[in-house]
Amino acid sequence: MAETGAHARRVFSGVQPSGNLHLGNYLGAVKRFVEMQEEDYETIYCMVDLHAITVWQDPAQLKTAIRELAAAFMACGLDPEKSILFNQSQAPAHAQLAWIFNCVARIGWMNRMTQFKEKSGKNAEASSLGLYCYPALMAADILAYHATHVPVGEDQKQHLELTRDIAIKFNNDFSAPGFFPEVEPVIEGAATRVMSLRDGTKKMSKSDPSDLSRINLTDDADAISKKIRKAKTDPEPLPEALSGLDGRPEARNLVGIYAALSGKGAAEVLAEWGGREFSAFKPALADLAVEMVAPIAGRMRAYLADPGEIDRILGAGAMKARAISEPILEKTYDLVGLLRSA
Ligand code: AMP
Ligand code: TRP
Repeated sequence: MAETGAHARRVFSGVQPSGNLHLGNYLGAVKRFVEMQEEDYETIYCMVDLHAITVWQDPAQLKTAIRELAAAFMACGLDPEKSILFNQSQAPAHAQLAWIFNCVARIGWMNRMTQFKEKSGKNAEASSLGLYCYPALMAADILAYHATHVPVGEDQKQHLELTRDIAIKFNNDFSAPGFFPEVEPVIEGAATRVMSLRDGTKKMSKSDPSDLSRINLTDDADAISKKIRKAKTDPEPLPEALSGLDGRPEARNLVGIYAALSGKGAAEVLAEWGGREFSAFKPALADLAVEMVAPIAGRMRAYLADPGEIDRILGAGAMKARAISEPILEKTYDLVGLLRSA
């Protein structure tokens, strides 16, 4: 019988192990992961290595990147005693459920995905098939746990809408009302879309060729201060009210970062700083960023000094992840009509 009724409050989110985390990942996603770990949720956080290989990854570097991401997660405050931390490829249900979802989702749905268009650029024909059906694997990540809440940055909103569409169509096609939950995106905080420090109209991203465009979680105090000092601004002083940020993307971004790091609202930041010059604001922002970000790098190094311990933590996390996802996969196979011999 199809499972109906309420699903538990379960959080799932993933980050790709494809290079250093930056301030956008932290403020848009990981900071929220840590807060939700302390709230009334069961929390599952995944290093999505199968998503990373949708574009070429050097095999030796990929293993390092997975350990580094695990170290970054823990350095930011995720605790393997409180959250399930694991890498995606160690829980086979993700890839297995993704296949079912490839058969549920429609090509037209995938064709609308803006992230595929951005990542494939002019060369869509030469992109991997994996990059194209990436959102079906993401839906599988979430739904293999019957997760209900997914904290992400703004750029993942469309993928979460697709996840809902896949859940609805599956439940409908296989007469299983409520089997897969309709997930709630959790896109919250003062900085769900942190922009490049060099161009306030572009997202802060690990793929930007300019390292000055982003603050990496591995940057030391000097690098953080320098990047903020060099951040692009306009010549006007800070406005007194939020409406004064219209048409000033760089000012909006720096105010948003200050707000998120200090735990204040952007209006509150402007009440304090309105009318003052960036030459006064930037050093205060730099101090705040150094205070929040620089200790993360130190803690990351401590975790990375013992890679065996990281592997042990991810292995233990994967066992817990499999214990939840495998029964859900079995039920899914059953609903689809795939024969399982006893
Ligand atoms: P990724 O590194 O693309 O796997 O992203 C990991 C998480 O960070 C996702 O939830 C993204 O939405 C979030 N994220 C990435 N870049 C930014 C950004 N510039 N601002 C806010 N959130 C971001
Ligand atoms: N697509 C997400 C990104 O690029 C990463 C991701 C993969 C994810 N699976 C997920 C996020 C499941 C939330 C839930 O950032």
